[in-house]
Amino acid sequence: MQLRLTDLLLFLNLTDTSLPRSGTTYCILTTRSTKRLPDGSVIVVLGASGDLAKKKTYPALFGLFKYGLMPKNVKIVGYARTKMDLEDYRKRISSYIKTPDEKVKAQLADFLKVTTYVSGQYDEDEGFQALTKHMEELEGDVPERFRLFYMALPPNVFTPVAQRLKKNCYPAKGIARVIIEKPFGHDLASSRELQSSLEPIWTEDELFRIDHYLGKEMVKNILILRFGNSFLGSGWDKSRIASVQITFKERFGTEGRGGYFDKFGIIRDVMQNHLLQVLTMIAMERPLSFDAEDIRDEKVRVLKAMRVISPKDVILGQYDKSEDGTKPSYLDDDTVPKDSRCPTFAAIVTHIQNERWEGVPFILKAGKALDDGKVEVRIQFKDVTSGIFNNIPRNELVIRIQPNESVYLKVNTKLPGLSMKTSVTELDLTYRERYTDLVIPEAYEALILDAINGDHSNFVRDDELDASWSIFTPLLHHIDQNKDFVPSKYPYGSRGPAELDDFLKANGYTRAQNEGYQWPQTNLNGNL
Ligand code: BG6
Repeated sequence: MQLRLTDLLLFLNLTDTSLPRSGTTYCILTTRSTKRLPDGSVIVVLGASGDLAKKKTYPALFGLFKYGLMPKNVKIVGYARTKMDLEDYRKRISSYIKTPDEKVKAQLADFLKVTTYVSGQYDEDEGFQALTKHMEELEGDVPERFRLFYMALPPNVFTPVAQRLKKNCYPAKGIARVIIEKPFGHDLASSRELQSSLEPIWTEDELFRIDHYLGKEMVKNILILRFGNSFLGSGWDKSRIASVQITFKERFGTEGRGGYFDKFGIIRDVMQNHLLQVLTMIAMERPLSFDAEDIRDEKVRVLKAMRVISPKDVILGQYDKSEDGTKPSYLDDDTVPKDSRCPTFAAIVTHIQNERWEGVPFILKAGKALDDGKVEVRIQFKDVTSGIFNNIPRNELVIRIQPNESVYLKVNTKLPGLSMKTSVTELDLTYRERYTDLVIPEAYEALILDAINGDHSNFVRDDELDASWSIFTPLLHHIDQNKDFVPSKYPYGSRGPAELDDFLKANGYTRAQNEGYQWPQTNLNGNL
């Protein structure tokens, strides 16, 4: 089916202003069978007084409200242990919401009018009974009730809250959905334990496990890029691809979060979930349709084909003071034990044992307190047949997930002029250049909208979680138990541990390929 984007947006009642500079027609993806929460639904944020709710959940709820994407007459109820009056609650939940102009200020005022608060414990029925009473007052006397529960909670209360919600707040008729956030356990056994405590209470259909990377625009774009472009699809395998590298870099350390981070480390914090999700999108086979279960079936299949990661395929790092001494080391964080071996950097190579990918290294690299802040996928193609060229660099396709969303392909061209010298340049799709009035939704906005719409495509299924923990658990246990496995120190603000380049080279990627070339990325103001 083909129609213009503007028609499609009208049809979906969306207000998307990110239109390409030139006129184009668009294809709707194979229809998803979903059930949208109707007008008058209630959204409950559990943990409403916490940091996640304040920084991510409420700003995203407001974003959807502002764009007119919420069910009409939606009611938003906060629930937490803290006793607060309505005014304090509204002040708190709006503290991270930006109001650049009068229009948005008025929208925020309207949003706050539909938000209310109930305080109660997480492990006693009483609070949940009060919550139900409050929801019923908001809903009125209706034959069916529609409720979305967002658990912005620490993992130790996931199960007691899930149980009490089911017992006290589950509608006799209607729909109830629960969104939960990582950490989903800390290894395979604990993840299964959590799973088996949730599953008898909430069905897989009612559960939405958030990995917020699945809500990022460029991550969602991967399937379209791969399967919507035959030229890319045809070389997407071991015959043309030499290596795949997925990189996550942050410029800041654990500042203030050390206590939490030390229990997890960088592998559990971002690799087993966010980076592995990106990897599955890069490596999975074409799904039968864009239906959630078809997509997730293929993701699970590729995870099951991955080799369990062995300690010899890993380097670990922990950041030290910056070279000029102005930035602290990880161990300087008061909330971190002084002898902590927690990795703040890891590089891992893994392989997928199927016909498409046999022999292709997939390198996952993640670190805090590094020289750059970015997340990208770098697909390095094989060398061209030697003979007419001497050391011509490899092509690379780079998908820049953040910041400055873009896709660029490094290609060799003749240097313009009278010589036959070659140079590396790029076919560059930088979003802020290509689209006018670019609006890229926040990952949480996209995912909460999916949950409202009942679309599971961008949420983690139970067997997917199981398969991802299976790949990482032996390594994580080895690191936890083996006191000799000590991360190498790297200075705050550097590229990571000194052995990184040799590790990448040994695993099929050489930085030398890049010598003399720099992607002329637009800066954040959009200027070259
Ligand atoms: C979180 C991790 O899941 O993802 C953080 O716990 C990390 O440590 C964050 O900083 C990165 O998310 P984003 O969206 O800023 O890339």
